Amino acid sequence: MSDSIKHKIEELSRQIEEHNYKYYVEAQPSISDYEFDKLLEELIRLEKEHPEYLRADSPSQRVGGQVTKEFKTVKHKYPMLSLGNTYSEEDLRDFDDRVRKALNSGYEYVCELKYDGVAIGLTYKNGVLVQAVTRGDGEKGDDVTTNVKTIKSIPLKLRGHDYPEEFEIRGEIFLPRKVFDEINKEREEIGEPPLANPRNAAAGTLKMQDSSVVAKRNLDCYLYAVYADNLPYKSHFESVKAAKTWGFKTSDSMQKASTIQEVFSFINKWDTERSNLEFDIDGVVIKVNSYEQQRFLGFTAKSPRWAISYKFKAQQVSTLLESISYQVGRTGSITPVANLRPVLLAGTTVKRASLHNADIIEKLDVRIGDTVFVEKGGEIIPKIISVDLSKRPENAVKVEYITHCPECGAMLIRNEAEANHFCPNEAMCPPQVKGRMEHFVGRRAMNIDSLGSETIAQLFDAGLIHNSADIYSLRKEDLLKLERMAEKSATNLLAGVDASKQIPFERVLYAIGIRHIGETTAKKLAFYFKNIDALKSATLEQLLEVGDIGETTAKSIIDYFADPKNAIIIEKLRESGVQLALSEEQLVNASDKLKGLSFVVSGVFNKFSRDDLKKAIEQNGGKSVGSISGKTSYLVAGENMGPEKLKKAEKLGVPIISEDDFIKMLNPSPALPSGERVEKD
Ligand code: IVH
Repeated sequence: MSDSIKHKIEELSRQIEEHNYKYYVEAQPSISDYEFDKLLEELIRLEKEHPEYLRADSPSQRVGGQVTKEFKTVKHKYPMLSLGNTYSEEDLRDFDDRVRKALNSGYEYVCELKYDGVAIGLTYKNGVLVQAVTRGDGEKGDDVTTNVKTIKSIPLKLRGHDYPEEFEIRGEIFLPRKVFDEINKEREEIGEPPLANPRNAAAGTLKMQDSSVVAKRNLDCYLYAVYADNLPYKSHFESVKAAKTWGFKTSDSMQKASTIQEVFSFINKWDTERSNLEFDIDGVVIKVNSYEQQRFLGFTAKSPRWAISYKFKAQQVSTLLESISYQVGRTGSITPVANLRPVLLAGTTVKRASLHNADIIEKLDVRIGDTVFVEKGGEIIPKIISVDLSKRPENAVKVEYITHCPECGAMLIRNEAEANHFCPNEAMCPPQVKGRMEHFVGRRAMNIDSLGSETIAQLFDAGLIHNSADIYSLRKEDLLKLERMAEKSATNLLAGVDASKQIPFERVLYAIGIRHIGETTAKKLAFYFKNIDALKSATLEQLLEVGDIGETTAKSIIDYFADPKNAIIIEKLRESGVQLALSEEQLVNASDKLKGLSFVVSGVFNKFSRDDLKKAIEQNGGKSVGSISGKTSYLVAGENMGPEKLKKAEKLGVPIISEDDFIKMLNPSPALPSGERVEKD
């Protein structure tokens, strides 16, 4: 019997990994997402019933759940060197000359894309992924195995049989551009500055503590080099091709070149085509193909003599800096923008470039009237690289950074350790006020889609709304006075405003736009404090009691409620009938049963999603925290919980309870999210 279960688990794991491979490596899925989820659920169920058959390479490990507080430092078996960079045809010819002189016999190159991500080394033993380590300083890196296991295109178990018993394969982890754009959109929603580029975002994601968050980020990975003590292949090209048959995602664009001329054609082709790729590359890597010749050429202190990278030139032009203007963002942050004489760059006309902040202006010593070099790099907005001093006119004007807000006239402030100046006039500064109202009506906040940003601007300019609460006193006759506002749109708008009064408290809390309060934090606070008055009177210590709320967020909440202007807004929202407390139904499900207790939730559960379980903890007055410490009251253990966590809980004597034990703690009137009740027996 148990043999057949074991067999079933193995067979399901094999099927699931096959589907992962088809979807993420070959981009040719053969079943629906629904069917896939069913297979995975079945596997998780069987592994739960028979934990003795749960393997480290099971595809159920890809959903994440393990939290790493500190990444272990690991010494690389083969040092992780970097490549010498070249930027010109001439440099590349010099490289080729050096190679030719050293190798008397013939040789060929392999040309590859230079992925702009984070280098990773993956170790496999007997076909199973055992360790993933970042580059670090080249000698030692961080063990990020748990996070890497969530990347679906990286095989946990290899295909075929002809791979070496133990080997390392290296490649680049990256974030596809589309995913990057989505992350930045989310950050914008909670008033966080955007991440600079996909590379930084990938590096940040890989070092996140909660692997279930990493799993949702959709990182991807191309592999480009195999290392082993006795590789059965004679060349780099052959081993990468073999790695492809073992299930790795390797690049189809890899190409052999027997002359430097062919290398140039490869470079030129990808310099133009790179904009069509779904990820960023910053150049091309050229490697001598034969391992024997690689060994002969050897290494310098830092990099191999048998390989080099050619970095694409960011396209540059020079143009005149006509003036500088200053933009004010929703959070009051000031960005200086260069107004340029329009010029064509990489296929688009550039009129403006970001100057970032006062320090950058000073460092560039850029003056109005200067001719400046503008470049389009990985970032979308072009930037000014340098000044062409030979063209500086005598009357070029030194930039006097503004001292007052261009929108409202308030004196700007600059906090120590912050690069940007900002306008402190939160309450009256037009772009800040309008920005806050736009956030308030947003889809994930009060969802008043009949009120767009243009109408907000119109209403604000007409003096009809000054803050989010004013939206609730709009009258039809006022609306009809606005340009382009007909009877029907006015009725729609008011209906939308009215409907928003039913939006639950946790979303209202997100909508009012307290700095650093995103959707998740808003939910936590709502269930913990239950109404806005309790939240308003919470002390710093009490706020810090709520799981995952840090100093910055707690202070931001205190500051918000300390401002009398905000108190007026809250009162007005209350009078208008906006939900400032949990609903009756939500309260019925809430209790104080878990007050004073803190829980760590880990693994996958049957009756709850992990998020719902955390919500249930908070709804019942408990605290859900990320990592185990001596203070943790309970570890709620689900399927596939990380062994490290289990060990730590045992070491610290933290009681380990199951999902069912947890439900029992809430009996006799268990409070579950979404109004569900557990059947009493
Ligand atoms: S080979 C001994 N191939 O570039 C050198 N590296 O500066 C082994 N990179 O740390 C590296 N694409 O993160 C190689 N096709 C490619 C690459 C590549 C990107 C990165 C890698 C490395 C850095 C070298």
